[in-house]
Amino acid sequence: HYYPVILSGGAGSRLWPASREFYPKPMLPMFGKHTLLQDTTTRLDGVDSVQSPLFVCNEEHRFLVAEQVRALDKEAEAIMLEPEGRNTAPALTLAALHLAGKDPDAVMVVMPADHVIPDRASFTETVERGGELAQKGYLVTFGVVADKPETGYGYINRGKEIEDSGSFTVDRFVEKPDATTAQGYVDSGDYYWNSGIFVMRADRWLEEIGKYQPDILAACRVAMEHGKSDADFLRADKSAFLESPSDSIDYAVMEKTDRAAVVPMETHWSDVGSWSSIWEVSERDEDGNVARGDVLTHDTKNSLLMADQRCIAAVGLDNMIVVETADAVLVADKRNSQDVKSIVSQLKASD
Ligand code: GDD
Ligand code: MG
Repeated sequence: HYYPVILSGGAGSRLWPASREFYPKPMLPMFGKHTLLQDTTTRLDGVDSVQSPLFVCNEEHRFLVAEQVRALDKEAEAIMLEPEGRNTAPALTLAALHLAGKDPDAVMVVMPADHVIPDRASFTETVERGGELAQKGYLVTFGVVADKPETGYGYINRGKEIEDSGSFTVDRFVEKPDATTAQGYVDSGDYYWNSGIFVMRADRWLEEIGKYQPDILAACRVAMEHGKSDADFLRADKSAFLESPSDSIDYAVMEKTDRAAVVPMETHWSDVGSWSSIWEVSERDEDGNVARGDVLTHDTKNSLLMADQRCIAAVGLDNMIVVETADAVLVADKRNSQDVKSIVSQLKASD
């Protein structure tokens, strides 16, 4: 039984100003009529024996998530609420505790709510391949061929092929290496990026987190025992959950476990972490522009122009990002779009 486990908790600070703490990236309708969260919610619809999705998100976003799921005419297995984010390892542990308690054979397909994967057929095929390995006890990640020295990703050095499956054991998993190390990995040609999508049995995750981060498992257990449920919402107990160390799936377990496997993912994937990646994955007009809302252009190319409240008029721009919202306007060179997060830090410092 596959359970989609959808993680939605990051702040998406490189997508300021459209992605604020109260209205984060996955809940924004960026491409067409559905939000990234909604696209993720329906991503496994073609998979055999797929169950209702389970969400793990911040308490503050519960109505946003519930509303977006309802708009799809879907039912959630549960919407699990964190009083405060403790990164992805505790979030996944809450989900695994809930699912393992309900279904001893539960297999989780862990998906960040903010990724773009246009080719669903190819993706569901990859998930089914991963599912077979997960049944055998592997912690499966999907690998994307690493072709630039991105420092925001996990890097996977593949090991031996597992029984002619086209999938591999993992020799090394390195989360977010520095730029020089990343360049070395890319040059070697032997590394995949970790897509951040995982398939694993719920009971297997609990064993691994208990082995490498017992404090996370202990805190999450208590948070669930003392948690409260109302309707679809399962609220982790605040004081227990806040006792949990903050750590990611990648650092807490994937770097350490000897049960990892990687399934190469052929399909196009983007984690749309920045405005330039939004421009890359969006449909562009004949001048290479992506324009949303009330936008007028003259002699402007390769730019992303998003107008929310007012009209944007762009003249003579190349490779620019302009994002207009009610209370802030971002104007940036597309090549520097990773640095938008430093504006968010400045804003936080001046709060
Ligand atoms: N519920 C919940 N609670 N979700 C969270 C939390 C949390 O505290 N923190 C992060 N998330 C969600 C984010 O919203 C996102 O959907 C997903 O978990 C991954 O978190 P990110 O913060 O975006 O991780 P990352 O991008 O730095 O790194 C991960 O993804 C890369 C690929 O995009 C790692 O898995 C890397 O190894 C990987 O390469
Ligand atoms: Mg991310």
